[in-house]
Amino acid sequence: VFRLPYSLYFIFLGKLVSTSCSLELSPPRVVVRFGDSFSANCTSSSDQTEGIGWESPYGGVDLTLGVSSLLFKIDSVPEWEIGPICYVNSRDGDQCTEVLPVTVYKMPDSVSLKNLSTVEEGQQFAIQCDVVNVAPARHLSVLWHKGNYIMKSEIFDESSPSPVSKSSVLTLTAHRDDDGAEIWCEAKLNLWPEEQGPPPVRSENLEMTVGSKISLNCTARGNPIPSYHWEFPNFTQVWNRSHDVNHPILTPSSKFPGIYTCTASNSQGTVTKYFIITEAPRKFLAVHKFIFPYCYAFLYLVILCAVIF
Ligand SMILES: *[C@@H]1O[C@H](CO)[C@@H](O)[C@H](O)[C@H]1NC(C)=O
Ligand SMILES: *[C@@H]1O[C@H](CO)[C@@H](O)[C@H](O)[C@H]1NC(C)=O
Ligand SMILES: *[C@@H]1O[C@H](CO)[C@@H](O)[C@H](O)[C@H]1NC(C)=O
Ligand SMILES: *[C@@H]1O[C@H](CO)[C@@H](O)[C@H](O)[C@H]1NC(C)=O
Ligand SMILES: *[C@@H]1O[C@H](CO)[C@@H](O)[C@H](O)[C@H]1NC(C)=O
Repeated sequence: VFRLPYSLYFIFLGKLVSTSCSLELSPPRVVVRFGDSFSANCTSSSDQTEGIGWESPYGGVDLTLGVSSLLFKIDSVPEWEIGPICYVNSRDGDQCTEVLPVTVYKMPDSVSLKNLSTVEEGQQFAIQCDVVNVAPARHLSVLWHKGNYIMKSEIFDESSPSPVSKSSVLTLTAHRDDDGAEIWCEAKLNLWPEEQGPPPVRSENLEMTVGSKISLNCTARGNPIPSYHWEFPNFTQVWNRSHDVNHPILTPSSKFPGIYTCTASNSQGTVTKYFIITEAPRKFLAVHKFIFPYCYAFLYLVILCAVIF
């Protein structure tokens, strides 16, 4: 008989395709990384089998007569949505088909935190977790960790099979027992049983410190010796303009909440660090983070951020 695309059979022959045929796909479904290879075997157990073929824009296999199984193979998955179809033709003219479900995935390019300066009344702050270029996002979970606890998890309603970027926002209220707590977010794809598949991609840590004095330590080690640049929410209130701001440690003279940015740079690179200071009842909450973790020299950044009354 002739090999026609599934859809053409449907249109021209008006034939209803049986789904309960003696056709077996192995594996029955595929999860593959974009650009990787995979193969699947289509086997017919009917003794009336005339031939088997695979219909697909990529890696299709022509109707092959006199076989009971046929392998489909793609060396490098080129598309985000592919659904190869195995068809088995019977001697009596019947055809049965089955779509091989293929999920093409891509782990995110990056997962990073970002401050949203929605510090409300000095007690709450919001952090955003940006997950860049992940597929398929309908299988994405973003988990917010604080130490050993998962504070929040978010899933996404997204139909696109190709990579998209997603964000999750966490709103936090400072508590005294948050002292020393580390917060981070991680992105994982729920495509595999526990402990299988690629490891989740996690962001940098945010450290919360609640203490008795505030000192923002932005000391960076580098060669050549880095220079520093600070930016504050309200420069004049915190720091005398006359003061030398090319200094790694800032000890604000007043408890002014807001976002403090320190940039350490030398000829080899730049590292920026945020200190988010929230005034909580009878204490401060300070949060810091790195952005631009890439740096050619050994720019080594150590921060201490202590907090207070
Ligand atoms: C496909 O499956 C058949 C039946 O299980 C088996 O005999 C054959 O070796 C398989 N082919 C490949 C390439 O795995
Ligand atoms: C985060 O903090 C930086 C540094 O103070 C500030 O420039 C930026 O606007 C803040 N982000 C948002 C979303 O407000
Ligand atoms: C900055 O601080 C000064 C002195 O306390 C105050 O007068 C001014 O209103 C503040 N500006 C802003 C934008 O908060
Ligand atoms: C600002 O400078 C003046 C004069 O040098 C000094 O008296 C004052 O204590 C300084 N204030 C702060 C907050 O460092
Ligand atoms: C700031 O951090 C550097 C690097 O860890 C450390 O050597 C220094 O003692 C710290 N300074 C203060 C005042 O904590």
